[in-house]
Amino acid sequence: MIRWQAEAVWETVAPVLPGFTVEVLPEVDSTNTELMRRARVGLIDPVLLVAERQTAGRGRLGRPWAGEAGASLTFSLGLPLAPADWSGLSLAVGVALAESLHPDVRIKWPNDLWLHDRKLAGILIETAGTGAAAAPRCVVVGVGINITERPAQGLSTPPAWLRELWPDADAPQALARIALPLVQALQGFEAQGFGAFRGRFHARDALAGRTVVLSDGLQGEARGVGADGALLVHTASGMKQVTSSEVSVRPLGAGG
Ligand code: BTN
Repeated sequence: MIRWQAEAVWETVAPVLPGFTVEVLPEVDSTNTELMRRARVGLIDPVLLVAERQTAGRGRLGRPWAGEAGASLTFSLGLPLAPADWSGLSLAVGVALAESLHPDVRIKWPNDLWLHDRKLAGILIETAGTGAAAAPRCVVVGVGINITERPAQGLSTPPAWLRELWPDADAPQALARIALPLVQALQGFEAQGFGAFRGRFHARDALAGRTVVLSDGLQGEARGVGADGALLVHTASGMKQVTSSEVSVRPLGAGG
C-alpha cells in the first residue's frame, strides 16, 4: 500500500487555491481523461487527482503512457485558468517541476523533463471549455514521473528515473515536493504569462546549443525560446521559430 500524504499536500496548497481538493484513486483509465470528463460536465473546482495505476494512461501525440503502481508518479491537476495568452504554458510547468525536483533536471522543449539526456518525466496539458460563454477554460495538467528503473522498450530515448537522484525517492515524496510549486507556476502564468518563466526556462534548457532535427527534416542549432515559448532554431536558411513540430536531438558524435 502506498502512503500518500494527501492531507499534507492539501494543507500546503489549499491556502493559495480556494476550493482545492486532493483525490487518490487506486485505479483509473487516465487521470487526464477523468478530469477532462469532469470539466466537460462543469465540474471545475481545483483538484489534484493521483492514480496509483492508470489502465489507459496517455502521452502526447496519442501515444500511450505506461506505468506500474509505485514505479511512477501519475497525477493531473485540474483548475479553471484564464491567462491572456496560453503560449508557453507547458514550459512554465516544466520549469516548476524541474526546479522543485533537482538542479540536474532539464526541460526538453516542449513537454519533457530530462535527466542526463534521458526522459525522466512527461507533461500532457489539455483544456476544456465549461460550456458557459464567459467562463474561464479549465486546464488539466497531467504529469508522469518515473520513480524506479523503467524498461526502455518502445521508447525513442531510454528513460531516466528519480531514484538515480535520490535513492530513497518514492511517488508520495515527489508529489509533496512539486504540488505547491506547480500550482504557484500556474497562477504566475495566469497573471504574467510566459515572460515570467523565460529566463528560468533558459537556465534548464536541455537543447540549448545543440543540433536538433525537426520532424520535417530541417536541422539547426537550438537557441532557446522566444517570448511566446517557440523554440528558436538557427538553420542554414535563417532563424526558425518552431511552435508545434516534434524535435529530436541529433545523437552525440553525429554533429550534435
Ligand atoms: C508524454 O510524455 O507524452 C506525456 C506523458 C503524460 C503522462 C501523464 S500520467 C498522468 C496523466 N494522465 C495521463 O493519461 N497522462 C498524464
